[in-house]
Amino acid sequence: MTLSSLPLTHAARMRRRPLPEGYEQNLRDLSEASVQRNFDPYLDIDWDSPQLAVVPNDPRWVLSERIDPIGRTQWYKDQPLEKQIAMGMWRQANVAKVGLQFESVLIRGLMQYTAAQPNDSAEFRYATHEAKEECNHTLMFQEFINRIGMDVPGGQWWFRKLSMFIPLAATTFPTIFYMGVLGGEEPIDHIQKQFLRSTEGQHPAMTAVMQLHVAEEARHISFAHQRLEQVIPTRGMFPRFMLSLALPIVMRVLLSAIAVPPRQFRRRFDIPRDVWREMYWRSPESKETKRDVFGDVRLLAQRTKLMNPVSRLAWRILGIDGRASRFRSEPTYAAAA
Ligand SMILES: [Fe+2]
Ligand SMILES: [Fe+2]
Repeated sequence: MTLSSLPLTHAARMRRRPLPEGYEQNLRDLSEASVQRNFDPYLDIDWDSPQLAVVPNDPRWVLSERIDPIGRTQWYKDQPLEKQIAMGMWRQANVAKVGLQFESVLIRGLMQYTAAQPNDSAEFRYATHEAKEECNHTLMFQEFINRIGMDVPGGQWWFRKLSMFIPLAATTFPTIFYMGVLGGEEPIDHIQKQFLRSTEGQHPAMTAVMQLHVAEEARHISFAHQRLEQVIPTRGMFPRFMLSLALPIVMRVLLSAIAVPPRQFRRRFDIPRDVWREMYWRSPESKETKRDVFGDVRLLAQRTKLMNPVSRLAWRILGIDGRASRFRSEPTYAAAA
């Protein structure tokens, strides 16, 4: 008989701090879902099929005018097609690299976190399933980058430098760590879903990677939300106030780390400074994107009572305020309607 199949009363004796029953059951359900439905990038993506081949001068790499902050600038549209394609390939490969670097931090943090869990911890089991899935995602992203064949650096230099220290927060400040998990997963997921909802023709290799990723991220994001929703309300007034300020700051900092391409991109393709500033974040569209990606996190802030007059001001100053989603993953076009 395994520990997880023991009646809860027996298993509970082994635990130092029993989890609330609803939360524990949700974690067990998420773990079960992870066993029932998971992907392997080398079994579920047919990398060598002719449809997924990366060939020269493929206009499907041109950045979307509707979704991509670079693609929508007049400057980009005025560039020769060949350069637009090269920029698109570089950009998409780099987005995958940033995803890989973020997930690598996440995996290391999850391992730190699980190492401190007691026997029969439902958090241990689910977080380990999640780390396993994230390992597959890093394999998938790296394969995608290799197929594109561009030597991209990934996130901002400071994010890459700090990345070896961030996982330590998983044991010392787990609530901040899980805020960071959301700060990375929410924007990546939001952008990928927008791509998948769009009808524009994009390269099928990218579609395959995004479909597989979005399918598994739903569980990961759910876990981060649930964990924060469990823990935050149990904190005292002062720590909760500090967390209410930490939440928008973590979101804003990680958005920059993840969404803004590194300076190598600007240099390599001679992007004028004023175009760059428009994209990040002066144009009305980029400001809107910045707000849109955190609708679900604002919902979390409301549910956990982390919205107070001071934190609301912080969200506003950081340019990520706005209405909270009515439910998680509410599409932004539905919100606009
Ligand atoms: Fe992932
Ligand atoms: Fe994830």
